[in-house]
Amino acid sequence: MPEHRSATTPRPAAPGAAAPAAGRGGAPGRLLVRVRERIQETAEAVSLVLDAELPYAPGQFLTVRIPGGGARCYSLASSPHTGEPMRITVKRVPGGLGSGWVCDAVAPGDVLEVLPPAGAFTPGPGGLDRDLLLVAGGSGITPVLSLAKSALAAGRGRVALLYANRDPDSVIFREELRELAGEHPGRFTVLHWLESLQGLPTAAGLGAPLAPYAGREAWLCGPGPLMDAAGTALRAAGAEAGRIHRERYFSLGADVFAQPAAPEPPAEAGVEAGAEPAAEAEVELDGRTYRLPWRRGTPLLDVLLAAGAPAPYSCREGACSACCCRVLEGGVTMARNEVLDDADLADGYVLACQALPLTDRVRIGYA
Ligand code: FES
Repeated sequence: MPEHRSATTPRPAAPGAAAPAAGRGGAPGRLLVRVRERIQETAEAVSLVLDAELPYAPGQFLTVRIPGGGARCYSLASSPHTGEPMRITVKRVPGGLGSGWVCDAVAPGDVLEVLPPAGAFTPGPGGLDRDLLLVAGGSGITPVLSLAKSALAAGRGRVALLYANRDPDSVIFREELRELAGEHPGRFTVLHWLESLQGLPTAAGLGAPLAPYAGREAWLCGPGPLMDAAGTALRAAGAEAGRIHRERYFSLGADVFAQPAAPEPPAEAGVEAGAEPAAEAEVELDGRTYRLPWRRGTPLLDVLLAAGAPAPYSCREGACSACCCRVLEGGVTMARNEVLDDADLADGYVLACQALPLTDRVRIGYA
């Protein structure tokens, strides 16, 4: 899977997605998972099958600690709806520290330090029952395969996949896709695009194959130029912009494993002389309601982690949407936001890692 990723069109993490179910690492949210099996998918791509039963939603990713410092986000290729074990798939990036380590060094029996599954590249309630169009390029197939298997196993709609690759040898999951299509005739259609035969996929070239599916909810993951071309082709065919979801790449600028999970405890209301009294946060998360003082300059995520709440997060930089939640009452501002668009903001979505209170009382919901 490409290193570092993010998504548009956020949805709160799946219910319970932040609840740890494996061995705990040294700080809140961190987990230790053992590698059960290593699968060489292609010459450049490796899957790691994990001994872990973490709640997750189709299309989500794991943040994995990389030896020597840093972390990478790798999408799960497995489906939470098929009973299969969790599996991440990683494609070697030239010079990539994380992908090089996974592809060259990680072996069965090794233990990985991870954060709970997160990410917003996942259909919301009822989303798996709709007809879907999936577009993937190269290792962008990883979360897309999870969506496809989940929709076919747990949904009622039809699924079409356009999958672009350099040549036949670089097609990851070729056999698995062929078997899925055979098991679901009439429901699952796979269209391969090979650059060695058809050239680079352009908006003009993708117009004809994608047009029949322009009315479907579309999920795109792959290199930026491919997603741009597919998005343009779909818009030209009449697709609504709000129904086109993209998985974006981003860089984790900080080592999320090296940072303290809760750098600053929330203050008691008005405890500092001259300081503006703390706001009150009422947060519905994982079946519980937390009522917490919220210091004006402290991000909501830090307040929640300091209180021991299992709030999801990954980058803590406003770039991945793993911490996405929704304002139900009151107002917040965000110090940084690289993933939410105007429509998301209008729907009340915010990033907990960047959210600061604007009103004395704010009610927040997850999932
Ligand atoms: S944790 Fe990545 S945007 Fe908040």
